[in-house]
Amino acid sequence: MFSRTAARALTSQSRAFSSSAARHTKVAVLGAGGGIGQPLSLLLKLDPHVSALSLYDIRGAPGVAADVSHIDSGSKVTGYAADQLDQALEGTKVIVIPAGVPRKPGMTRDDLFNTNASIVRDLAAAIARVSPEAHILVISNPVNSTVPIVAETLAKAGVFDPRRLFGVTTLDVVRAARFLGEITNADPKESVVTVIGGHSGATIVPLLSQSPFGKAVTGEAYEKIVHRIQFGGDEVVKAKDGAGSATLSMAYAGAKFANALLRGLGGEKGVVTPTFVKSPLYEDQGIDFFSSNVELGVNGVEKIHPVGPLSAEEEKLLAACLPDLKKNIEKGKAFVA
Ligand code: NAD
Ligand code: LMR
Repeated sequence: MFSRTAARALTSQSRAFSSSAARHTKVAVLGAGGGIGQPLSLLLKLDPHVSALSLYDIRGAPGVAADVSHIDSGSKVTGYAADQLDQALEGTKVIVIPAGVPRKPGMTRDDLFNTNASIVRDLAAAIARVSPEAHILVISNPVNSTVPIVAETLAKAGVFDPRRLFGVTTLDVVRAARFLGEITNADPKESVVTVIGGHSGATIVPLLSQSPFGKAVTGEAYEKIVHRIQFGGDEVVKAKDGAGSATLSMAYAGAKFANALLRGLGGEKGVVTPTFVKSPLYEDQGIDFFSSNVELGVNGVEKIHPVGPLSAEEEKLLAACLPDLKKNIEKGKAFVA
């Protein structure tokens, strides 16, 4: 992700845009002691766009911070203990939230709601108070509900700006490129797939027809890869056998999305990637959060792209996605109301 050439290009872009946002970007990780939080903190330490890294968890963050802080990149790393949330948030430009419990075999993401909804709500309330201008990247599941929870909490505090709230669905995009590359022998960099909708089961809608490699996949192979993209998380939960869900691939995906946002905030043009945001695309059907390709810019969400042309199969997938997504969003909103 951050090859020497890419890092050089990123550094010179940062200089060219001469944006203070790019050079003084404090990023916080809430849940930094966890399975995702630790490798995510490591990857953010390697990102040249990050000038300071603020690591918070209810347990273990100072240790993670001490460890990560020895890495020879420019950013300053500080760890915060359970009672130091406000200090951790002060002056942050970007906040990534992987705090919360992960699935065990047999659970759905929605089964995490009871525990994670209040964790995310309380963190959002603190953000509203201390760093209301920060861009918030929500990883904690169920994303389809936790993002509306954050939105409603910020709105209640009078500080919600839809341009600054993102559900991280990048792992679905990463998986889709990898799985498509596997069956077509393409380099995953070439087999990129736009994934729209939400982040759980049937709400994950890969648009294979829009990919030159994907449109060649038909019949049983098509059914199989769609199922694998929609239920890739289950493969990891099953293989970890009670020890949690995806952490390393998620840390990679989280760092990849954070890097895209940081590049947009720094003034780079044409940064486009799918993310779950407040969206007008299906608002007429009562669905006001949706993931589609979004252009990221100096203020966060710059432009929400339409989903584009869909195949007949994709129309069916989308029809199955929308009612589930609507329920998940309403559940999140009701929790805060
Ligand atoms: P984990 O249990 O390993 O780590 C979670 C961390 O959150 C722990 O260190 C815990 O102490 C911390 N935490 C709990 N309450 C907190 C609070 N109030 N403030 C700060 N930190 C708190 O779990 P994990 O494997 O890292 O997964 C974290 C979440 O990410 C889960 O909800 C999981 O389902 C989700 N997830 C999302 C995606 C995605 O694609 N969006 C992918 C994988 C996992
Ligand atoms: C994933 O897609 O891997 C995550 O949402 C974690 C999970 O519960 O599957």
